[in-house]
Amino acid sequence: MTYIKLSDVGNNLGKEILLKGWIFNVRSSGSIFFLQLRDGTGRIQAIVSKKAVSEDSWSSCQRLTMESTIEITGLARAEKRSPYKYEIDVSSIHIIQVAEEYPISKKAHGTEFLMDNRHLWLRSSRQAAVLRIRDEVVWQIRSYMRKEGFVLTDSPILTPTSCEGTTTLFQTDYFGSPAYLAQSGQLYIEATAAALGRVYDFGPTFRSEKSKTRRHLTEFWMMDAEAAFVDHYESLKIQENLISFVVENVLGKRNQELEILERNIKPLLNVKPPFPRITYIEASELLRKSGQAVKYGADFGGDEETLISKGFDRPVFITNYPGKIKAFYMKPDPGNPDLVLNNDLIAPEGYGEIIGGSERIDDYETLERKLAEFNLPKKDYEWYLDLRRYGAFPHSGFGLGLERLVGWICGLDHVREAIPFPRLINRLRP
Ligand code: 4AD
Ligand code: MG
Repeated sequence: MTYIKLSDVGNNLGKEILLKGWIFNVRSSGSIFFLQLRDGTGRIQAIVSKKAVSEDSWSSCQRLTMESTIEITGLARAEKRSPYKYEIDVSSIHIIQVAEEYPISKKAHGTEFLMDNRHLWLRSSRQAAVLRIRDEVVWQIRSYMRKEGFVLTDSPILTPTSCEGTTTLFQTDYFGSPAYLAQSGQLYIEATAAALGRVYDFGPTFRSEKSKTRRHLTEFWMMDAEAAFVDHYESLKIQENLISFVVENVLGKRNQELEILERNIKPLLNVKPPFPRITYIEASELLRKSGQAVKYGADFGGDEETLISKGFDRPVFITNYPGKIKAFYMKPDPGNPDLVLNNDLIAPEGYGEIIGGSERIDDYETLERKLAEFNLPKKDYEWYLDLRRYGAFPHSGFGLGLERLVGWICGLDHVREAIPFPRLINRLRP
């Protein structure tokens, strides 16, 4: 008997096939059992008729509970009335395990309960759809980067210094010395950019942020990109092309999952370059006009980003922030040295900042001065200064937050559903 995945049943109609999976619903009407089966690749209804199966198979059905695992053989056929398009008429059933009473029932559960049972909750069709879209997003990011000549050069997670400020570092003990979990791999891929020209990394990053918002995780995945001889303006083009490419391909390939999530895809269809560009000062002006007073030199929070995004039908770049509120490595704006040549990319529909990027300081003296201004110990950054001692080169880069991007594309209320096992300020388990 050939074992067939549920995604492949359509190619095996009229044949006796073997299916394996989990029962997500079971009901009976006297002499028939309706078993709803899923195997991760699809779902199907299996019809067990008392007169078509052995006594053994029939009594197996009576023991089945939600999430029990089974193997069934039967004949697959098309079924127009079924949401799954096919049905299977069962000839025999073999139980792998009868599941204990499943904690997640059809009644509505609170999010904390579901998060406590995240290891089980992932089996639901919504959560599985999010994971499949996350997978697609990652593939599309990687294929865009390869297409554009970026080479994957992964950066370390255990590091001796900070990249994004010292207030959000997770510290650990490294054989008697402090080490920190990486906040971003950027500084390291600036080094690999000098070896390979265009590079990226893609991995987990960490911030011990006390932020309890729907956009913050303490462990999240970031794709950092860095390109030699690319200025701030060219970097914006790479970013808008990347995001447009990912959204377009996810729409093309993951329609079914977006439907399960009931995502209104209309706003996603607008995601095409060029994205609007406004400066920090223009963004502050926009906020002031909509009645939100912002002090010059204050960073925008989630609420401000949401307000700004409402004025645009696609992601919007906010550029040229005051250098004081951004990271030490950003290149000052030649037109106004208080500002830097940087950008945040704000997603539409209130999903907040999905990318942060900038041109980097490429000369030794400016970088040395900035390190001092930011109270960062020069000795820890000597290797980074070397990149300005030996063949300094103009370069720009950016970091894309995977869960923010997935959360926006899926239309999720909170980034915690965009990663299999979220780490939040109040959650380390399961
Ligand atoms: O803007 P950030 O802090 O930029 C950097 O770390 C740069 N070193 C990146 C670079 O230039 N190579 O972070 C980049 C992105 C943000 O735009 C956001 O999407 C995401 O990472 N991010 C978070 N996502 C979830 N939870 C958090 N706590 C996040 N902090 C940042
Ligand atoms: Mg940022």
